[in-house]
Amino acid sequence: MKILEAKHVSKLFGGLVAINNVSLQVGKGEILGLIGPNGAGKTTLLNAMAGLNPPSTGSVFFNEKDVTGLTPEKMCHLGLARTFQIPRPFPKMTVLENVMVSTVFGKKIHRKTDAVRHCRRMLEYVEFPATEDTVSETLNAVQLKRLDLARALASEPNLLFLDELASGLTEGELKEMIAIISKIRDKGVTIVMVEHIMQVIMNLCDRLVVLQFGNKIADGLTNDVAQDPAVMEAYFGAEE
Ligand SMILES: Nc1ncnc2c1ncn2[C@@H]1O[C@H](COP(=O)(O)OP(=O)(O)OP(=O)(O)O)[C@@H](O)[C@H]1O
Ligand SMILES: [Mg+2]
Repeated sequence: MKILEAKHVSKLFGGLVAINNVSLQVGKGEILGLIGPNGAGKTTLLNAMAGLNPPSTGSVFFNEKDVTGLTPEKMCHLGLARTFQIPRPFPKMTVLENVMVSTVFGKKIHRKTDAVRHCRRMLEYVEFPATEDTVSETLNAVQLKRLDLARALASEPNLLFLDELASGLTEGELKEMIAIISKIRDKGVTIVMVEHIMQVIMNLCDRLVVLQFGNKIADGLTNDVAQDPAVMEAYFGAEE
């Protein structure tokens, strides 16, 4: 059963073709890795599917429903949440308040005590490494990533997009992040993750889609794609 499908999606920025006629499917419950060199169009494709920057042409289906061009708010209410390559919480708000924004918006929990309890559960779930009343502008990179994840989970998505959630983490922090993402998958949440770190990709992804210069150059099981010569060449250049 597929939960998400992109059909012939292209995205142009002026004369630049950032995504060129890409189609892909995401099965319910799987972790799909969206990989490719810098500037390949990974974030642009996530945005196009999440409603942040709609496709120039092509369509997106979520649970078989055509959602092309819907706003991110609509997509959130349909069950899609995402983290950002550069997390930007409301800087003057505390950690708890930032998760509250998402909780109240996404879940329509109206009683404040219920909402606070829900936020605390989310922070616990991502093993947030500071107190909930820390002002967000003082957070370090790891804390920002965890907050962004807690915020995304607070709307109780069934489809989650992660954009380089593991970048900039130390070896130990990477292992923790892999465990947290596995836990989210085990809960039944489908995940599309943009990632560069091989350890994360090989540990978590069931399938990979590879982009290069906006084109899809590979799509298949992780082990097969990782050994595909065209993929090697995209990353490391042609062999002499
Ligand atoms: N809003 C925008 N306006 C103009 N060009 C853009 C815009 N967003 C992205 N691009 C361009 O589209 C191309 C794809 O960018 P994108 O950010 O999607 O790549 P990426 O695969 O996510 O790269 P990275 O691994 O560095 O995050 C790049 O050439 C980028 O400069
Ligand atoms: Mg990107």
